[in-house]
Amino acid sequence: MMNFAMESEEPIMDYTQQSGEGFRFLLPALGRFMGKNEEQAKYSAEHHLPWCESAWCAEERRHSNAFARMIERLVDVSPSRENPNQPMEVTADEHDAIFHIINRQTSEWNASSSYIVMAAHAAGDLHILIRNIVRDEIKHLSILGCAYMYLFGPRFWKRLLDCVKLGITNYRQRRNRSGGDLLGSNPILAIEGIAAHLLTAQYLTKWLKTVPLSALTTVFETPSKLPDLAAFAPSSERQAEIDETLRNGQQKRTDLVRWNPEARKFAVAQRRFEEENAEAIADIIAWELDNFQGAELPGSAADQKIRRRIAKVKLRSCRENEMLWDCLLDSLRHYQIQNNRHVLGRHFLSVRSGYGVADNSGVPMAAHGSTLTN
Ligand SMILES: [Fe+2]
Ligand SMILES: [Fe+2]
Repeated sequence: MMNFAMESEEPIMDYTQQSGEGFRFLLPALGRFMGKNEEQAKYSAEHHLPWCESAWCAEERRHSNAFARMIERLVDVSPSRENPNQPMEVTADEHDAIFHIINRQTSEWNASSSYIVMAAHAAGDLHILIRNIVRDEIKHLSILGCAYMYLFGPRFWKRLLDCVKLGITNYRQRRNRSGGDLLGSNPILAIEGIAAHLLTAQYLTKWLKTVPLSALTTVFETPSKLPDLAAFAPSSERQAEIDETLRNGQQKRTDLVRWNPEARKFAVAQRRFEEENAEAIADIIAWELDNFQGAELPGSAADQKIRRRIAKVKLRSCRENEMLWDCLLDSLRHYQIQNNRHVLGRHFLSVRSGYGVADNSGVPMAAHGSTLTN
């Protein structure tokens, strides 16, 4: 099974270019986080620049090597690193990009669930190492789940169905792959694998439901601080075309046009309410809710206290109070995501060691993405 996992992890460089190109217009922040588009990748290769700088790439890069090492230690054989996996071609066209986002989610879902089963069957250092990889994969799954939710709204069942359908197709194709056994080749393991998939999906959905649209907008619309690959200069017509497509793409995302009408109506009304009452809401958060300070940890006593205070806050008519409570709860959640223990720990570390917090995270997704899974 580890051999199989190692093979699936291997073609990471191709995946990054697929994602960089595939998401360049659909969701550019995610594309930049997961890789480089065709022109950027070509430019980087010609100029010996890193092929990808994000946390996602750094993590994925470790995985196949980690599995190779585990196999070596366990059975004393160096596994062959020739990879029979053929990554598919992805273009920046909307249809391809949407398929790709479902495809990547399915891969991360399969990876997290099957490594969870492996971890359950391992002890000691081996267990710790597999759990370490599991955490990476769950984080990737969370980021992609968020990207899907940002683009298509809270369509949890549709998302699950898309992933299951694709997962079954992939599973059938993979039967004929090189070395290694599939998780399902032993009936008991197959049951464990299915249970792990269901639990992962259930917990992810539960968590996704807590992530407010405002946090998704911040994560996916904050422009990258990475230096532009400036020396790559397209013709002025091509640049104008790219800019126009990017503008349209952003408009489509902020107008929530891919959401189902009912969810969109609700989200747009909520957003309008928040814009119209921005000042009053900021005052309430500052004066009545102490700027949420101390409530960084969900479920903590301070979090509960703030929630109780939110329930007592009032603003004019009854309907608007519901919108106000929703907005305040979302703001609290947004605050928790931005100030979770990983961010605070990182800040603490940087203060103690004298390193800047943002020294290696020019990409906003690298900063937000790695902390999103609170
Ligand atoms: Fe991986
Ligand atoms: Fe992954």
